[in-house]
Order: sequence, then structure tokens, then C-alpha cells
Amino acid sequence: MKAKANNNIVLIGFMGVGKGTVARELSKQSKLFAIDCDDLIESKENRKIGKIFDEDGEKYFRDLEKHTAKWLEKNVKNTIISTGGGFYKVKNLQKIGTIIYLQSSFDAIFERILHHPNAKQKLAKRPLLKDLKKAQTIFSERIKSYKECADIVINVENKTPSDIAKEILKHF
Ligand code: S3P
Repeated sequence: MKAKANNNIVLIGFMGVGKGTVARELSKQSKLFAIDCDDLIESKENRKIGKIFDEDGEKYFRDLEKHTAKWLEKNVKNTIISTGGGFYKVKNLQKIGTIIYLQSSFDAIFERILHHPNAKQKLAKRPLLKDLKKAQTIFSERIKSYKECADIVINVENKTPSDIAKEILKHF
């Protein structure tokens, strides 16, 4: 596949699917640097995602995502960009880079988070995962859209980050 003009690779997918991990692996295997949208938002705001949700609510956070998306489109090239699970909704997503959807079942994602050595920290970063039923509803609402806005869909279940990165790079 021909990469988009800015040569960015954008990873989208549900919370905890491993977008950050795969981005770092992609960075290791390619000549590109990796950045993460939630990290950009946290540094811009100088507070954690959980705190932003607690203090200012989800709408405020979504506006920060839109602001980040505009900045990425204007300023970033030759970069791997991992995104938060709701970032796919920004209007200019397609202009940021080639969109890769990391696909997995809800159960496999939850297993991955719960068995992580930093499970507690992983959950704290994700206020929308606090209520399992709600998280499941959000998952069902989003899976179709993730697929629709993706240029490439990669099934990540039972694969190592290194294998996933190799599979992604084969497309370019
Ligand atoms: C969110 C996902 C989180 C973070 C925020 C909202 C979402 O990022 O951006 O808690 O709406 O799915 P991860 O996908 O890295 O967990």
C-alpha cells in the first residue's frame, strides 16, 4: 500500500488493545519515531487523563483530542502515532496518516489488561473501563466504526507485538 503523503502511521482501536506497545515495536523495527496522543494531551495539560476526566469531564477531553488531531495534521510527519480508543472520531483522522485498526475481541483485550503487571495503573488511566458493562457497550458501539475508518485492519489476538509490527510494515 502507498503510504499517505505525510508518511505517518496511525494506530486506532479499543482501550487496552496494545496500540502503545505496538507503536514502540514499530518504531524499533522502522526508522520512525513514535508518539502517543494521550501522552501529548497529558503533557499539554500537565495532568493525567484520569484527572482530566474527573475535573473537567469527557467533553473537555474530547475537545483536547480534536485540538491534538489538528496539531498532528499540521505539524507531524514520518511518525508512528498511537491514539486513545475514542480518537478515531476526530474529523480530520484521514488527513493525519495511514489508519491501522488493531482488532481484537473484548474478552481478549480484558485478559490482556488484567494480566498485565501494571493492571491497576492501566485501569486508572482508563476511566471508561471502570464499569465492565458500560465498557462492553462502548466496544459494541465502536467496532463497526473502527473498521470503517481504517485503511488496514490487523487482527492482533494471540500475536506478539513484534509479529504485529512486522505484519503492519509488510503493507508498505
Ligand atoms: C479512551 C481511551 C483511552 C484514553 C481515554 C478515553 C476511549 O486511551 O484516551 O481514557 O474513549 O476509548 P487508550 O485507548 O490508550 O486506553
